[in-house]
Amino acid sequence: MAEPILVTGATGTTGGRLVRRLLAAGHEVRAASRNPGAANQVRFDWADPGTHAAAVAGVRRMYLVAPPGVADPLPLVAEFLRTALAAGLARVVLLSSSAVPEGAPALGELHALVRLQCPEWTVLRPSWFMQNFLGDHPLAVGLRERGELVSATGTGRIGFIDAGDIAAVAGHALLAETPLNTELVLTGPEALSYADAAAIWTELGVPARHHAVSVTELTQRHIAAGYPPDFAALLAGLDEDIRQGAEDRVTDTVRRLTGREPCALRTVLLGATAGQVPANG
Ligand SMILES: NC(=O)c1ccc[n+]([C@@H]2O[C@H](COP(=O)([O-])OP(=O)(O)OC[C@H]3O[C@@H](n4cnc5c(N)ncnc54)[C@H](OP(=O)(O)O)[C@@H]3O)[C@@H](O)[C@H]2O)c1
Repeated sequence: MAEPILVTGATGTTGGRLVRRLLAAGHEVRAASRNPGAANQVRFDWADPGTHAAAVAGVRRMYLVAPPGVADPLPLVAEFLRTALAAGLARVVLLSSSAVPEGAPALGELHALVRLQCPEWTVLRPSWFMQNFLGDHPLAVGLRERGELVSATGTGRIGFIDAGDIAAVAGHALLAETPLNTELVLTGPEALSYADAAAIWTELGVPARHHAVSVTELTQRHIAAGYPPDFAALLAGLDEDIRQGAEDRVTDTVRRLTGREPCALRTVLLGATAGQVPANG
């Protein structure tokens, strides 16, 4: 494929892994970042439309990660897509969420936009990322600082998924000869509660416990961690759905589309404690 594939969120959790996969497979990648450094990176800032045209020039395929932390991303993304489609964009793979059906606020509106506007499209709807337990995510910070996983999910279970598996499906959707033109709910191999996750951490030598809080308290904690209040409330509200069983499911999509076994949480956490990326990450 001669044209570059544009990856937005290219330095992020799934985008970074996708860039590495595409480059390793010999594809030309244009990696979007507010602070480009490497030769294949392009300056791209959702908040600066002046950076959009150069990012999409000559691009037919794109991985789309919504502007982070924006409660209503639709106007920004709709304008950007108009520019990109006018420049020849054909295929979009949008990163949405298992928790957000088409048409719901924010990501659900982007889902509808992509389906209706793009000639070739896929909407990825992954469950919660296993990488939330690592890095700067509030969950990971609570674990590091206090040995606790804070949630309002009660005993509700989640089909946590490895970001490497999401990147593998994204790569498939971008490169498949026939466009998928569908939405894909993605999970890891098992549904686990936060108490289950705490038990895995503890078994791996990192003492952890689940600290159950209310949605209101979780919202306040997200705000204290720096999230805008409306976004903090939206995020915390998702925990209530999990508590009621909305995420207690496992799909076979990763295996069906990529042929790889989805990574287990224990494998990802073990890799992290050993300072390694999981073998198929
Ligand atoms: N975490 C989960 O469990 C989960 C589950 C399902 C769905 N999701 C969805 O996954 C998406 C990504 O979430 P994430 O937390 O993992 O984030 P992430 O992909 O790590 O996001 C950070 C990326 O966004 C880029 N970025 C930040 N501000 C930008 C701006 N103004 N303009 C352009 N790029 C900008 C950053 O690039 P630079 O800093 O290089 O510019 C970085 O590459 C979200 O839409 C989320 O709803 C998350």
